[in-house]
Amino acid sequence: MKTIVRTCTSAFLAAMALVSCQKQQLSPEEQFVNDLMQKMTLAEKIGQTNLLPAPTNIFTGISEQSQDMFNQIREGKVGSILNIKGADAIREYQRIAVEESRLGIPILFGLDVIHGYQTEFPIPLAVSCAWDTVGVKLSAQIAAREASTDGIAWTYSPMVDICRDARWGRIAEGNGEDPWLSGLLGAAYVKGWQGDDLSDPQTLMACLKHYALYGAAESGRDYNTTDMSENRMFNEYLLPYQMCVEAGVGSVMTSFNDINGTPATANKWLQDDLLRKQWKFDGFVVTDYGAIREMKAHGLGDDDVVTERALNATVDMDMCSELYITQLEKLLAEKRITEKQIDDACRRVLQAKYRLGLFDDPYRYNDGERGKTELFKAENREAARQITASTFVLLKNDTIAAHYPLLPLPKRGRIALIGPMANNQSQLRGCWSVPSDHTQYSTIFEVMKQRLEGKAEVRYAEGCHYSYDPVLEQRFLWTEAPSPRSHKELLDEALATARWADVVVAILGEAKEMTGEAASMCNIEMQASQHDLLEALVKTGKPVVLLLANGRPMVLKWEQENIPAILDVWFPGSEAGDAICDVLFGDKAPQGHLTTTFPQHVGQVPIYYNHKNTGRPIGENDYGKFTSGYLDVTNAPLYPFGYGLTYTTFKMSDIRLSSSTLTANSSLTASVTLTNTGKREGTTIVQLYTRDLAASVTRPVQELKGFKHVTLQPGESQEVSFEVNAEMLKFYNAQLQYVCEPGDFDLMIGLDCRDVKHAAFALK
Ligand code: BGC
Repeated sequence: MKTIVRTCTSAFLAAMALVSCQKQQLSPEEQFVNDLMQKMTLAEKIGQTNLLPAPTNIFTGISEQSQDMFNQIREGKVGSILNIKGADAIREYQRIAVEESRLGIPILFGLDVIHGYQTEFPIPLAVSCAWDTVGVKLSAQIAAREASTDGIAWTYSPMVDICRDARWGRIAEGNGEDPWLSGLLGAAYVKGWQGDDLSDPQTLMACLKHYALYGAAESGRDYNTTDMSENRMFNEYLLPYQMCVEAGVGSVMTSFNDINGTPATANKWLQDDLLRKQWKFDGFVVTDYGAIREMKAHGLGDDDVVTERALNATVDMDMCSELYITQLEKLLAEKRITEKQIDDACRRVLQAKYRLGLFDDPYRYNDGERGKTELFKAENREAARQITASTFVLLKNDTIAAHYPLLPLPKRGRIALIGPMANNQSQLRGCWSVPSDHTQYSTIFEVMKQRLEGKAEVRYAEGCHYSYDPVLEQRFLWTEAPSPRSHKELLDEALATARWADVVVAILGEAKEMTGEAASMCNIEMQASQHDLLEALVKTGKPVVLLLANGRPMVLKWEQENIPAILDVWFPGSEAGDAICDVLFGDKAPQGHLTTTFPQHVGQVPIYYNHKNTGRPIGENDYGKFTSGYLDVTNAPLYPFGYGLTYTTFKMSDIRLSSSTLTANSSLTASVTLTNTGKREGTTIVQLYTRDLAASVTRPVQELKGFKHVTLQPGESQEVSFEVNAEMLKFYNAQLQYVCEPGDFDLMIGLDCRDVKHAAFALK
């Protein structure tokens, strides 16, 4: 074998490399990559910048899949491949690269391992509602351990696009609307995917996406334009990307959108100035799927022009446009780009492969034997079950009879479990479940029956179609077939089941493909077919629990007014059945808090808690002529950021401050006493917010600055303290300097962003 792999792993050459590095003071990585690049032709260097989709049944974008990929690999024209699964299949591609191409450079295999591989975790928006960096990290570690057995070494996560518009389907993939919380969780994903050592064969290289501002797409329509002031960018949107870079993310993906007139993929300022020079990112930048080609539709020019623009923006890898591979040589011959630019891109890709250890062993991420025991193993599933239960948000829990709230349900009597997702293996996985085989999953109905055997009787009814409109329903189900049964037949059966039961548990909301990529919606209420079913169930007079399955904040005004208990379970993943039963029947209590605002009307979006005050503010529940509100709907959200109930209640004292002033070098402590006033143990999230009351630029009415999980027994009290310092009060001023300005501040502590206590302090 004439491969670099074997040559470079020999102890002799390694020692020689070390000696020569010491001479020129190059790191072993630099020396290795330099030596390799000296042997490469221009075409081979360009080949390293080419990322292609494998001809499989995993589709994550529009492209013509190459039928001749093996030959392209042999010719050194493919650097990386995405969308392939299976240890044997990946091994064969790799074998061809290392044994049959001239230099034997290993291929980097990537896949969207976003919220699990075979063990499926909830969608990221759900996971964010646990506000738990430890859980996030663990979920990524487990998914990395599973995916790496197949040969995957690179995942396209974390996604930290801030989104304030529930119409955008990709809100499901992010961490909610707060930039700091999103950055904390994003950094935890990076640590979970990558571990401490990128070459560890049980970790993956992470890819931060979508850089940048993709979540601010106009009108919530996917891929749409973003036009944003620098003030807003720096104060409200860029922080999570920066925090992931600081956490050491190995690669970054450009976004599809146009930003202030330049598509992100052609934006030199974003990639070179901000990301590399200012934030010191030293990995490689890949485009999103076909994003270079799409710049033609954006209106930048032909193939040659858009390719030149992308390379000039220091984009290193072309995902699925096949334009670097076809255009760069010509552009170089025409002297429109330099060889150094191609070298830089190639070098950064090779560095990544070096860091992943692929040159030491191209099969290090390909361990089918480990896969046999690792994939979907009991320990992974148990962790997923715990994490999943912690993401559920209790939105409402009315007291129905004898002073008992409806939830948790007793494990006795007759339960009607209703809804098309209740006995379905696939739908509750969520939008990025491309890798998982759902035939191994249990349904909620199966788990519930088994868990309640001998104690309670459970009957299931499908209930309704996802929509009355068959065209829409097919879009919602994408590749799956809708129920063959009529609306009437489904409804009659559901009502008969409800009448038989003591309590109705309806799982309704969104099908899997109603959120995620290219899944923007103008109507974010329950589809009429589901609403009508719910209304009919309520009319039976039986108590109804709504388990809400969703990937976005939905408009639930009718549900809030008419359904006694609503538990948001999002898209819970492979352990849906157990996690839902754990919480529904009270073995665990819900403890999630919303990271995204639920509007009362779609006309309110974009709606977010950390908005500016305007010059004509109005109370959230008020109306006033000549004030900043609507004639027909108040400004109040249906459920605010930070909101989440549990099976007990809490009381919070007023805030105590250790000092009412703060200087640049001092800190103060803000404390409250929290008491569990209910009858059960419970966990809640105590949240700290501040507001800068007067500054050189306008500032938000609230900004999250800290949070703590607190678990209390009935009657127990605990002091909860937060340290506040000047660093936490910094923002970007009109000159984009990161400063804190002396003046008065409002400090707030509460269990959601609206229900807060206040205290005043000043920064001197
Ligand atoms: C998505 C990315 C994804 C990529 C690769 C694109 O369509 O926007 O989030 O990582 O495909 O599958």
